[in-house]
Amino acid sequence: MIASLVEAFVTVSERADFWTTLNSAKLEAVVLASEPGQHAIMADDDYLDDIAAGFAKVIDAKSPYTSGHSDRVALFTDLIAEEMGVDFSARRLLKRAALLHDIGKLGVSNSVLDKPGKLGEEEWLQMKRHAAFSEHILSTIGAFSDAALIGGAHHERLDGKGYPRGLHAGEIPMEVRIVSTADVFDALTADRPYRPAMPVAKALAILWEGAGQSHDPICIEALERALARASLGGAGDAALSGLSQQPSQAA
Ligand SMILES: [Fe+2]
Ligand SMILES: [Fe+2]
Repeated sequence: MIASLVEAFVTVSERADFWTTLNSAKLEAVVLASEPGQHAIMADDDYLDDIAAGFAKVIDAKSPYTSGHSDRVALFTDLIAEEMGVDFSARRLLKRAALLHDIGKLGVSNSVLDKPGKLGEEEWLQMKRHAAFSEHILSTIGAFSDAALIGGAHHERLDGKGYPRGLHAGEIPMEVRIVSTADVFDALTADRPYRPAMPVAKALAILWEGAGQSHDPICIEALERALARASLGGAGDAALSGLSQQPSQAA
């Protein structure tokens, strides 16, 4: 198999314009034009769920500190949404958006993502850019363009002190509030380069401290209820890690 791939590559590379095309401004147009026209695949909802889950694995593999993050954010997002009575089809879109919310981190250097200490000013600017990258990437993929809003706004805060736009509460839809609550809860309860994972109770207490300023109390309450329902509240950290390690529940 590998030998035939090498053979095919050698044949293609001997074409007169091969190397000059690789180095030219028209490369993207050439690649798009060479897509086989008769091989369109209709993507149904199950297929789109699988694609989102696959991309989440790529995103999470970028750094040891984001391992499993997208899967867990999707899981917590779904728990919150279910508790709030969101219907099945909206929950499905929310889960996909949660799986893809940090896709922009693929555009941020590992020297920033994995830095064990405090980020410098320029490094912090680089880190913050991932939200705008997520929005841009997702807005260019028709099937996931619904997720672009969430990708771009998941670090906004109700008091306007978030990024990248500094939106205020009235400009932040409920679906963004749900994913951003799930996102911070996972960030707090997972190991980070600069601190170890926090217990569930402490993470919830921190979320409550910022309720109404950072995150929506309705979402925090729904998360707390969902965790309690799954017997994960209070001292249930071991159970939480067991649940979090089952990505199939998040997909
Ligand atoms: Fe993020
Ligand atoms: Fe995130």
